[in-house]
Amino acid sequence: MYPRAVSAPLHSDSLDSGVPPPNERLPLPFSGPYLLAPMQGITEPAFRNLVLARNPPDQLGGAFTEFVRITNHPASPRELRRHLGAARFAAPVGIQFMGSDASLMAESARRAAEAGAPLVDLNFGCPAPGALATCAGAALLKSPRSIEQMLATCRAALPDTPLSAKIRAGFDDDELLCDLALAAETGGADLLTVHCRTRAESYRPTRAWDRIARTVAATSLPVCGNGGVERHCDLAAMRAETGCRYVMVGHGALADPWIFSGHRASPGEAARFLLDYAAALTGQAGGGQTKAAARVKQLLGHWTAGDLLGDERREWLCEKQPEALLARLENCLGGT
Ligand SMILES: Cc1cc2nc3c(=O)[nH]c(=O)nc-3n(C[C@H](O)[C@H](O)[C@H](O)COP(=O)(O)O)c2cc1C
Repeated sequence: MYPRAVSAPLHSDSLDSGVPPPNERLPLPFSGPYLLAPMQGITEPAFRNLVLARNPPDQLGGAFTEFVRITNHPASPRELRRHLGAARFAAPVGIQFMGSDASLMAESARRAAEAGAPLVDLNFGCPAPGALATCAGAALLKSPRSIEQMLATCRAALPDTPLSAKIRAGFDDDELLCDLALAAETGGADLLTVHCRTRAESYRPTRAWDRIARTVAATSLPVCGNGGVERHCDLAAMRAETGCRYVMVGHGALADPWIFSGHRASPGEAARFLLDYAAALTGQAGGGQTKAAARVKQLLGHWTAGDLLGDERREWLCEKQPEALLARLENCLGGT
């Protein structure tokens, strides 16, 4: 386990040369170049904290909450507490909002900063039909001007807290990619994350990292590249190939939570992670062993760490009884 700074995050300018890059508006709170992606239904405190504890802070520099959907009212203090979690000052965890009403988004951002969020991120990439139908998420990729306005409204509400935007490479194609990057810059973002798939490409396997390189060339903002990182060595490769400052990992961290450090987990360590995850979920309000086991199984669908599942992936995933699943994990604890 790695100790994490409690109240004095390292600034992003310490990542490379020690010289603050030009045009960076507010210093970013991340302690290292790799970031855990926002993932709805997964990056709640229970999962996030386990991943953060297993990777050194100079590698895994921070994480994001899943998106908080803003529709008719700004995020309530209760919602903010639930997403940020009790340990929110131990590691930089940006809170992500998704919505279409700029003033509600700005008030949510203001409240999040007041609650101690070290960074506010706006989601311009969610491809879910529900988001598109309400002109939120990826729907905004069709209109760089709307993204710029949304960011500018939130920027005005956040004088001292870094603001970031997470976009996809485009809606149907990547024609507007440079315009989107410029919109983020003009709107006042401090960081731009670009997921290299378009909305139309959904989550198809890809290595379209040239789009990340194009984004880096188009803007003076620090860029976080995202998409298609499957192994530890991909992290450095994406930075080297594209010039992005940060790399964000989604699916790769579900398969192997140690992907950021490159540590090769033993079967015992892998089982310990999953048992700790089940215990954290069981302990939280509304939790229970059945729900926790279902969430562990969801993770097992992606899991490769420690080669825990070996050639019995099907048997693991077909396990119906929560107790039997947890007992199976207990049996692997001694595995080296
Ligand atoms: C289960 C799941 C939930 C996701 N939820 C969010 C979300 O809440 N907000 C967001 O911006 N992206 C979300 N994403 C997209 C990821 O943050 C990331 O951009 C995407 O998975 C591409 O990265 P990858 O190729 O490393 O997985 C989600 C992805 C997955 C797989």
